[in-house]
Amino acid sequence: MNIIEITPAIRYVGVNDRSTPRFEQMWPLTYGVSYNSYLVCGEKTALIDSVEIGEYDALMDNLCEAGIDTVDYLVVNHMEPDHSGSIPVLLDRFPQMKIVCNKISAEQIKGYYHLKDISRLHVVADGDLLDLGGRTLQFVTTPMVHWPETMMTFCREDSVLFTGDAFGCFGALNGRYLDTQMSDAELETYFSEMYRYYACIVAKYGRFVQGAMGKTAALGYAWICPTHGPVWHRCIERVADIYRRLSLYEPEEGVTLIYGSMYGHTAELADRLCTALAAAGFRNIHVHNAANAELCDMITDCVRYGTIVIGSPTYSMDIFPPVAALLRALKVREMKNRVTAAFGSFTWAMGALPKITQELTDMGLAPSASMTMKHAYSCEIEEIINKFVNDLRQADIKEKR
Ligand code: FEO
Repeated sequence: MNIIEITPAIRYVGVNDRSTPRFEQMWPLTYGVSYNSYLVCGEKTALIDSVEIGEYDALMDNLCEAGIDTVDYLVVNHMEPDHSGSIPVLLDRFPQMKIVCNKISAEQIKGYYHLKDISRLHVVADGDLLDLGGRTLQFVTTPMVHWPETMMTFCREDSVLFTGDAFGCFGALNGRYLDTQMSDAELETYFSEMYRYYACIVAKYGRFVQGAMGKTAALGYAWICPTHGPVWHRCIERVADIYRRLSLYEPEEGVTLIYGSMYGHTAELADRLCTALAAAGFRNIHVHNAANAELCDMITDCVRYGTIVIGSPTYSMDIFPPVAALLRALKVREMKNRVTAAFGSFTWAMGALPKITQELTDMGLAPSASMTMKHAYSCEIEEIINKFVNDLRQADIKEKR
């Protein structure tokens, strides 16, 4: 039973998923994930967001144990199926229930779930209010956080903001649902998962996150209820600060070094570069072998830290495919404010380095240092490594001024 009171009128009734191995079939759910639903009870009852269809029974168990036999409104803040999947069965289960949605989500509901009876829809616009009798819901459209229809819902009397994916994180909720119930150690796991979640799911939409944060700031909320992860109250400032920094592409000090290697020569170069970077004073260095690492972890470090070093052997006159995939993921996320460097290796023709350089330059992140290696490491390369690291150091210092 995942039910907890947030305020006398608002309860958490969400579910945990520890079975799905990958979110969106791509991102590892190391600690599971929660799909959060909330009940707001005035004279009428509203359910804020539903859950992934496989977890519908668990949601119904929660409603039953919460003593709820009627839901008057289902507020759809976000239509991605991890939150909207239960809409058709909820419509059947509660024949009088109206779906509260905006114009865009109304179209998506009709398209995804073949809803014919549009009298079941209560369409709202930005700023509209819904009186539940003793509790008032205010709707705030926040497009592209994370889809175009996304909106947030504010319960005025309780100062609770239901934020959809924004301020969410991976990680199932292990018997505690509110940050006020959790130890600092427990919270650190969720903060770490917040970086992963932001990098994988939200990072492309930084400017929209900024817009949403600006738009909701004046509401004066005391609780953040996202669709994934803990309910935030005592950590609101830290959570908002993480999302503010990430959405502005503000980096933390650190280096992400990502390389590919087929037979170990580029790997050796990466290892030697790593040692030289540390000797030159770079701190917080994170190294990934792109062929083995999770794309998710590589993106997360690039989204989090200020310096990115990328290396690849030449593969069919191109970038080694796992490294190319990482570059593509960075491009999709419109990375900004990073100092970059590139290195490549080849046997008979230099294909990878010019292409990495071009990719980074196209993103507005032209490398400040670059180097290439033919065949294998030899001690003559040491001088080239030193120049590479020195160039990167100078660019790093300049960036921090
Ligand atoms: Fe949790 Fe964008 O869905």
